[in-house]
Amino acid sequence: MAPYPALLALACCGLALAAPPALRDLADARGVSLGTAVDVDALRNGGRYAETLAREFSSVTPENAMKFEVVHPEPLRYDFTAADALVDFAEAHHMQVHGHVLVWHEQLPSWLTGGDLSREALAAILRSHIQHVVGRYRGRIAVWDVAAEAVDEEGRPRETFWSRALGPDYLALAFRWAHEADPGARLLYNDYGGEGLGAKSDAIYRLARDLRARGVPIDGVGLQMHLSLGDRPAAAVVKANLARLAGAGLTAEITEMDVRLILPATPAAASAQAGVYREMLATCLAAPNCKGFAFWGFTDARSWIPEFFPGWGAALPFDEDYRPKPACGALMDALRRR
Ligand code: G3I
Repeated sequence: MAPYPALLALACCGLALAAPPALRDLADARGVSLGTAVDVDALRNGGRYAETLAREFSSVTPENAMKFEVVHPEPLRYDFTAADALVDFAEAHHMQVHGHVLVWHEQLPSWLTGGDLSREALAAILRSHIQHVVGRYRGRIAVWDVAAEAVDEEGRPRETFWSRALGPDYLALAFRWAHEADPGARLLYNDYGGEGLGAKSDAIYRLARDLRARGVPIDGVGLQMHLSLGDRPAAAVVKANLARLAGAGLTAEITEMDVRLILPATPAAASAQAGVYREMLATCLAAPNCKGFAFWGFTDARSWIPEFFPGWGAALPFDEDYRPKPACGALMDALRRR
């Protein structure tokens, strides 16, 4: 917990009398982006969601708005309504956009998965999808999750719609197609459960290292960091993982952090959660190749956790009323300490 929690808590949500720095200002001073996933429906309603987002964050990731089923709902029709709204908001508030996600096995439209299409047809579809989506935002999206979750829990290549359709080289192809469409964007492989050291993390490291060694245009690895108090890596192993990625010439980002709690969350759990946020942010800040730190949402009013983990929630730095939680003060504390 921060040594001056009340003051930090007030500063974090912009309530202190003297204009306090926001999280994004402190992050700017440390040279990292401070990001969050965004629910575009909530953003459209404006209000405290949009205000808090613009004030506290320097980077936005569309939680769902750039996924295949949303932007490419029919074979010959793209729909960028929600994606454009987010990119416009980001530009108006001087925020970076983190594109998410080009090759993933979830949220695919049924015309694609049920289409009984040949390997050649599917390769042509994925190439044209990537080039159309990345090309539309060329120069406006700083970093893309090109591929996500292609490694299984044991560290084997995950068998998915895309791996079955295109064969083992599909990831290399996706990175090359994305790079052709926007040579200036940083391209990431993004996964969960590989933040520390272990079979899955080793496999992700080898995958990214080997792609890079072959000249595939991959810049780094996104570590999702979906944690709970009882299931989280020690800072030392995250540090070691970041260091080995750096040794392979790869950057890293924390891309989707949340720390779910059993509901109702106790003050002790909220305090322990703050410690986890502080520790992981400090670990990223201490690693020269860790370029960004993002949460999978910022307010407990909007989070994937209660739907996917019944009985759990309260995972984010701001509560359901957009008030800063102890986690918020802990993040500010980590950003201030050198
Ligand atoms: O869009 C439909 C809507 O038309 C329908 O009325 C409604 C009914 O439930 O469902 C809506 O779709 C939901 C979609 O989110 C948009 O809200 C899906 O059911 C729901 O499954 C989907 O969940 C998303 C999940 O990815 C899908 O696996 C979560 O919001 C999103 O937070 C989550 O994000 C993933 C990252 O992309 C990758 N890493 C893990 C992370 C958490 O699972």
